[in-house]
Amino acid sequence: MFPLFSAAPRPHRHRAARIAAATLCLLLLVPALCLGGHGHAKPDKTGILIAFFGTSVPEARHDLDGFIEQVKKAHPGVDVRQAWTSVIIRDKLRATTGEDIPGVARALARMAEDGFTHVAVQSLHTIPGHEFHDLRMVVNAFRQMPGQFRALSLGQPLLSSEQDFRDAAAGLLSQDYAALDRDTALVLMGHGTDHPAGALYPAMQYHLTQAAPRVFLGTVEGTPSYDDVLAALKASGAKKVRLAPFMSVAGDHARNDMAGPEDDSWASMLAAQGFEVESVLQGTAGNPALTAIWLKHLDRALDQLAGGH
Ligand code: CO
Repeated sequence: MFPLFSAAPRPHRHRAARIAAATLCLLLLVPALCLGGHGHAKPDKTGILIAFFGTSVPEARHDLDGFIEQVKKAHPGVDVRQAWTSVIIRDKLRATTGEDIPGVARALARMAEDGFTHVAVQSLHTIPGHEFHDLRMVVNAFRQMPGQFRALSLGQPLLSSEQDFRDAAAGLLSQDYAALDRDTALVLMGHGTDHPAGALYPAMQYHLTQAAPRVFLGTVEGTPSYDDVLAALKASGAKKVRLAPFMSVAGDHARNDMAGPEDDSWASMLAAQGFEVESVLQGTAGNPALTAIWLKHLDRALDQLAGGH
């Protein structure tokens, strides 16, 4: 034996102390694990993440903020956060104002770090196009990552089912169209897309036509086009037009392509055709007839969390 160890005193007391310490650890540790339930150390914490396209127009955020307030009112005590899905808009905002709004991946990573165990992500998109499918890929990636969330659900965009079309048409009819004179048409400007889901715009027009004779939905970048709307307007016999965006907020497209003073805005082109034009700068996220649909989709996403583990 080496001299150092030959002097080791009373090994029994050491062993006893070690056993006592281990017992104490077990007593403290086991209940802590058990109380977490199902072996999870984190207590349940539910959150909502609103996934919005984004806007570079400060005034347009009024409708987004109003929508988030509605979500908070409908789900008191639940933390509601937002993420913007457009990288271009987020970069632009950071460069011009310094404001740094997270994308979906950063917002979700932060929520996991902040102890959220159950998160419902609600899309504030109009149709399940490019933006929504990218969002779904991010959500699916987080579902596969260990140690992130026990449940993560995704609420559908505005127009995702036959029922949504009917609800949107009925809402627009009772709230926005019913008050108009008989010679006034309601013209909605949607975004439009080259994604196959762009077919939902003509589908929406079909449901609007079923509901009312003078409601027309056109798009900036897809079908139906401005020319389609103009032809339908002329056939309807309307003399006046109320123009409104069919996008979640009244951002750049609504203020320039729709209502702008330039000759090629829809307002200017329709006025040049002899229509009396009134532009409404309110997005669909500020229209109770339509926010009801998104809120219903969020309820469904929250219900899906309850089945999560
Ligand atoms: Co655009």
